[in-house]
Amino acid sequence: MRYAQIAGWGMHVPSRLVKNERFVELGLDTSDEWIATRTGIRQRYIAGNESTSDLALRAAQEALYVSGTHARDIDLILLATCTPDQVMPSTASLIQDRIGATGAGAMDLNAACAGFVYALAMGAGQIESGRARQVLVIGADELSTHLNWRDRSTCVLFGDGAGAVVLKESDEPGILSSTTGCDGAGADLLMIPAARPNSRANGHSPKGVGYLTMNGPQIFRWATQMMAKAAEKVITASGLKLEQVDLFIPHQANLRIMETTAKRLGLPLEKVFSNVRQYGNTSAASIPIALYEAVAAGRLKGGDNVVLSSFGAGLSWAAVALRWGANVPAQHTRWSPLRRELEARMAAVRSTLRRQERAVRATIGERLRRDGD
Ligand code: UT7
Repeated sequence: MRYAQIAGWGMHVPSRLVKNERFVELGLDTSDEWIATRTGIRQRYIAGNESTSDLALRAAQEALYVSGTHARDIDLILLATCTPDQVMPSTASLIQDRIGATGAGAMDLNAACAGFVYALAMGAGQIESGRARQVLVIGADELSTHLNWRDRSTCVLFGDGAGAVVLKESDEPGILSSTTGCDGAGADLLMIPAARPNSRANGHSPKGVGYLTMNGPQIFRWATQMMAKAAEKVITASGLKLEQVDLFIPHQANLRIMETTAKRLGLPLEKVFSNVRQYGNTSAASIPIALYEAVAAGRLKGGDNVVLSSFGAGLSWAAVALRWGANVPAQHTRWSPLRRELEARMAAVRSTLRRQERAVRATIGERLRRDGD
């Protein structure tokens, strides 16, 4: 039996820290007390000049480093994001170039906040079916670029960030089961209308184009039901009993959603990991960042059963049950940091050479065409 196991993890957030009080200073009709009691959020990190790919790159490099994997050995890069750097090419293709993953396919996947768990399930499927041996799965978002900073019901909720894992083929159980789902009838409850004049989703008005809009209370109610159902499904499919779940990592959107979900499931709060307080809702990055911090906090040991459950715009949801590998992290030598630095530089040089080669070929081709005329 071939399994996909998480062998490395990484995260990155921008350096600009924005505390709740800052919104009040900027004249928004809100308070630290309201935000903290209704959501559990105290602060978030907001990107300045960094793009989604910049955040994703740093998280990916760390995950590769932790797993002891060479970028050139990665077979596939799946980047979950709803805030790509541009419409095309995919942000994943920028990561492929910047890390020097010369043997990897690369694509973006948009399932909004549920994207990372979707991508994890897809990546595991590729490994289990023998189509890939090592998959880099990234969740990265910069929703701050789509926030209306005068709308207190949304702008206080989100933060920017990226998280990544390396999935590797293993004989030992890793990803145990997964589920993905969608209810497109709720698409209008949470959206960022595209700036296309004839988009049906925008109706006839250009108002709100590019800004995130949300029906908070409806999403809240739906999320508490859906995250619990999805988690129950993967627990049952894995043959686990609820008592055997060691850690539950839900999408970090709102502490009250997480607590209600845990209550529905019958899980004690000690088994629920949350860091929404420090980062806000980082969309597709929320679960890999939480996973990273759970490892750093010593909340995971080899053999632990972990359940990830997420929800987001779509309306979409996904859950994964996994067994935390006993064999990680990979061995590092004192040369590992040097190797990491060298790989990054080599990738940059390779990328520059490829560009120059293309430019030269194009010039020669043009000359030959002119000569022929
Ligand atoms: O990744 C998925 C992303 N989305 C979510 O996870 C959203 C899920 N929903 C939620 O987390 C909650 O619904 C919110 C945190 C968005 C809102 O909390 P709520 O308890 O559902 O509040 P509400 O929308 O029912 O609003 C209650 C009151 C309203 O005032 P009135 O009409 O009662 O006078 C709002 O205008 O709270 C007001 N309000 C605020 N007050 C101070 C809304 N936002 C704020 C704010 N500061 N930032």
